[in-house]
Amino acid sequence: MANPGSERAELRGKTVLVTGGARRIGRAIALRLAQEGARVLIHYHTSEEDARRTAADCGGAELFRANLESVAEIERMFRDVRERAGGLYGLVNNAARFTKRHPFEITEADWDFIHSVNLKAVFFCSKEAAKLMREAGGGRIVNISSLGGLRPWAMHAHYCASKAGVIHLTRALAKAFAPEVTVNSVAPGVIQFGELDEESRAMVRDTPARRPGRAEEVADAVVYFLRAPGFVTGQLLAVDGGLSLR
Ligand SMILES: NC(=O)c1ccc[n+]([C@@H]2O[C@H](COP(=O)([O-])OP(=O)(O)OC[C@H]3O[C@@H](n4cnc5c(N)ncnc54)[C@H](OP(=O)(O)O)[C@@H]3O)[C@@H](O)[C@H]2O)c1
Repeated sequence: MANPGSERAELRGKTVLVTGGARRIGRAIALRLAQEGARVLIHYHTSEEDARRTAADCGGAELFRANLESVAEIERMFRDVRERAGGLYGLVNNAARFTKRHPFEITEADWDFIHSVNLKAVFFCSKEAAKLMREAGGGRIVNISSLGGLRPWAMHAHYCASKAGVIHLTRALAKAFAPEVTVNSVAPGVIQFGELDEESRAMVRDTPARRPGRAEEVADAVVYFLRAPGFVTGQLLAVDGGLSLR
């Protein structure tokens, strides 16, 4: 291959796995990928009913269940992906956890609860996905990080550290997996689902766009990276209404 990945990719017919794809942002990403004509694979853990609904709304996406805390379950899921889908073009690492604790209250279990899914699983899913993608000649990984990986939030130090880890992991893996596989990250700001709590309302008041974001806006950014040429790698796109500029 003289110039791997030099063109913008069509997603039509391409296989893309979305972790935590049953609900909220993951669901919006899955629906948007289905609109693009992709073959959507939806990973879920506990939200089976939502996953089935999202799969149906995608026109019949395939479902994969795994607890991403476990590397053995991640490896099994990618073996299933290989058997059932025959390969993989895209991975969206969207699944994550979020808790609020003062650092003096954070136990080892609290720390591991966040990092096992938010950072460790992103690494091991990316590793397994990149192996499948390389076999097929190339692919795209998009890691959903967070404004919290750029800005320090006192009551979320463990979450912020995990998401800063995702941002830097994105850069390291972009180098490691080049040129066949690109790795980029989308960092959402406040994305609204239902009523916002006071912490989020305060962030919206500080947001230059003067409103919270929509899951569909995060999905648009994900699709940009999935379709972008191989020359776009290791990059971070904040979808935060400008809040990271404050
Ligand atoms: N919402 C926001 O305002 C916001 C802001 C900044 C960044 N983000 C990031 O955007 C992404 C999506 O956000 P969201 O609010 O839509 O996420 P969410 O609803 O809190 O979580 C997404 C999914 O992660 C899955 N998950 C959690 N623990 C898991 C485990 N042990 N194994 C497998 N799956 C697990 C869950 O799947 P099941 O339900 O199937 O168990 C859940 O539905 C996350 O990476 C989040 O950090 C969100």
